[in-house]
Amino acid sequence: MINKYAPIGVFDSGVGGLTVAREIMRQIPNEKIIYFGDTARLPYGSKSKETVTRYSRQIVRFLQAQEVKAIVTACNTASAYALDEIEKETDIPIIGVVKPGAKVAAETTANGKIGVIGTEGTIASSIYSRYIKEINKEAWVIGKACPLFVPLVEEGLLKDPVTDEIAKRYLTELIDIGIDTLILGCTHYPLIRSTIGKIMGESVRLVNPAYETARELKELLAAEDMLNDREAELGDNQYRFYVSDAAEKFKHFANSIIKYGILSAKIINIEEY
Ligand code: DGL
Repeated sequence: MINKYAPIGVFDSGVGGLTVAREIMRQIPNEKIIYFGDTARLPYGSKSKETVTRYSRQIVRFLQAQEVKAIVTACNTASAYALDEIEKETDIPIIGVVKPGAKVAAETTANGKIGVIGTEGTIASSIYSRYIKEINKEAWVIGKACPLFVPLVEEGLLKDPVTDEIAKRYLTELIDIGIDTLILGCTHYPLIRSTIGKIMGESVRLVNPAYETARELKELLAAEDMLNDREAELGDNQYRFYVSDAAEKFKHFANSIIKYGILSAKIINIEEY
């Protein structure tokens, strides 16, 4: 029997998944969250499917040891590479960020041309295309890996001419093709949404999988009667953060994007799980 007052587990390769945690905090503020960022082993975006699956499996074990009631794979690359396999091994609900983003894009495109930007791994997996075509067979999905976006965001260059220039180079191809919908298929990209939006122009709808995932999580918990309906259960440690390395750096970045004041991030040895 799942305890509805238990926390939700959220994981990512590092800090990027905080864009997903932030949406969960906004949309279901009455929930506890345990966040794990695999800061010792990032990036996931350039690693193989086998490695990302092994890492994800260890993290799911760690989160289950914390007795979470559901798990969100906030990382697009982990959702693309590992989720199919891991959900078969897990007896609590586990959702990724790819399906919710793909669904909205498939349902809202008018001209059927959808762009997806993400890490090399996410784009190579073609997972967004697969899910989009399950819903909209006619859709034409064009993927574009944008590997420099992650370091630019982590360097804090959110509004900077360098980021503008690199974004133009990556995105011109998608503009020329005439897409009307663009999926921000990487945890970090919502943080440069305004730059991407400016380059793509107003006629292109940007889909943020972080937002759609929080919405889907809320619906899922409601349908299963798993939403925390007692504020008193939140205690004074509503959000807990764990990392595999560099806790101070994580805390600094986290505090720049989450308004709750993250006081600590605890280092754990994820290889033990
Ligand atoms: N979190 C990853 C993703 O969404 C980006 C960072 C990385 O490559 O680890 O795909």
